[in-house]
Amino acid sequence: MDLTNVDYREKIPNNVNLTEDRRVLKALEGWHPGYLDWWKDMGPEGFQESLVYLRTAVSVDPKGWAKFDYVRMPEYRWGILLAPQEENRTIPFGQHFGEPVWQEIPGEHRATLRRLVVIQGDTEPASVEQQRHLGKTAPSLYDMRNLFQVNVEEGRHLWAMVYLLQKYFGTDGREEAEALLQRRSGDADSPRMLGAFNEKTPDWLSFFMFTYFTDRDGKMQLEALAQSGFDPLSRTCRFMLTEEAHHMFVGETGVTRVIQRTCEAMKAAGITDPYDIEKVRKLGVIDLPTIQKKANLHFSLTLDLFGNEISTNAANAFHAGLKGRYRESRLDDDHKLEQSTYPVLRLIDGRIQNEDAPALSALNMRLRDDYVNDANVGVGRWNKVIESFGIPFEIRLPHVAFHRHIGEFAKIKADVAGKQLSDAEWASRRSEFLPNDADKDFIESLMQPQWEAGKFASWIAPPKVGIDNKPGEFEYVKIA
Ligand SMILES: [Fe+2]
Ligand SMILES: [Fe+2]
Repeated sequence: MDLTNVDYREKIPNNVNLTEDRRVLKALEGWHPGYLDWWKDMGPEGFQESLVYLRTAVSVDPKGWAKFDYVRMPEYRWGILLAPQEENRTIPFGQHFGEPVWQEIPGEHRATLRRLVVIQGDTEPASVEQQRHLGKTAPSLYDMRNLFQVNVEEGRHLWAMVYLLQKYFGTDGREEAEALLQRRSGDADSPRMLGAFNEKTPDWLSFFMFTYFTDRDGKMQLEALAQSGFDPLSRTCRFMLTEEAHHMFVGETGVTRVIQRTCEAMKAAGITDPYDIEKVRKLGVIDLPTIQKKANLHFSLTLDLFGNEISTNAANAFHAGLKGRYRESRLDDDHKLEQSTYPVLRLIDGRIQNEDAPALSALNMRLRDDYVNDANVGVGRWNKVIESFGIPFEIRLPHVAFHRHIGEFAKIKADVAGKQLSDAEWASRRSEFLPNDADKDFIESLMQPQWEAGKFASWIAPPKVGIDNKPGEFEYVKIA
């Protein structure tokens, strides 16, 4: 069987030879109807019958893995695709460094691995749930299509994790696969597992910030899991990363286009002071300080996803060879970290300062540092746009102690520069840093749908190029 091209003979496109794996095929076919019910209940609201110009993964060949065509979302071919098996791959870190990777789960690591797979899996449907109302206010058909593309791929990522659960984790795996369809983002009784995935994504600027900042956490987690000594997990994550790149593209270019439009409108109106918010808003665009506040919110919520700075779970997962560091194989050290240290920003005697911690315990901190560096790259590109208009304003990521709910800084209040504030100061200054009700109302007032092919809402610039090189007036969604 050709393991590069997807097998469409079965209901579930795959390159894992499901035809011959009757047990897993049956389990997945059994899970499929529940998944479709979930998609119809919790997927994009109001567009299930529309034809959307989507890419579908048809292979894992880097040169041509996707094909584009109009699809009704419930008919999307969610498939199971693993990156090709690397011959003679060895475990790249931890106590088993250099040993051959595992094709089956070592018994002693079963529970830890299951937890890692379930947590990753839980985030995928959560974001679909968070974004389900956005189609109605899409600023263009191009953006609407990108939203739905992200949504169907998050659905596929859920499939990817459910495949691992069904194939490798027996009865527990089946139960976890069911539970992934039961939890709901923001639900009081059975919420999604991680905080940021229970927040609302109320408007399109939030959507772009979410795909920029929170999907990037996804990228970091997938990169760390792609290092895993459990080879099927590694291969799954490697292919998911191919799709994930587009999600962050949607976020980065989305924010860029919002900034671009704001700057154009300011220039045309002769406004030079970016803090003249009233005047800027009258132009029907989002003022730069409000964009900064949205970035503050989504960045800080996302930092919480990295967990506690000092973590025994992270140390154990690394030591056991289950979850590595960001791009582990490119790092130049012993890959065991038993003797090394890593500087961790902590709250010591009430002051925020660095302290060397055992490197194994500091792996969450390290992944978060890598994340912050990665996130800063796109912010630099946003600032280039602002600079090109000569507007004196710079978007900056807030200090890691700002607005935290998990880890070292959960117990303090700090401003965006990391200066500690009393509860009273925080209460009175909060809306300097985070969107307040007036900001939210203003953004909401702009969220008017623009569904005419080739047109864009007042507050966002058109993209530089179309998807799949389509021309500007291309009808990305045929609304039913
Ligand atoms: Fe995903
Ligand atoms: Fe994503």
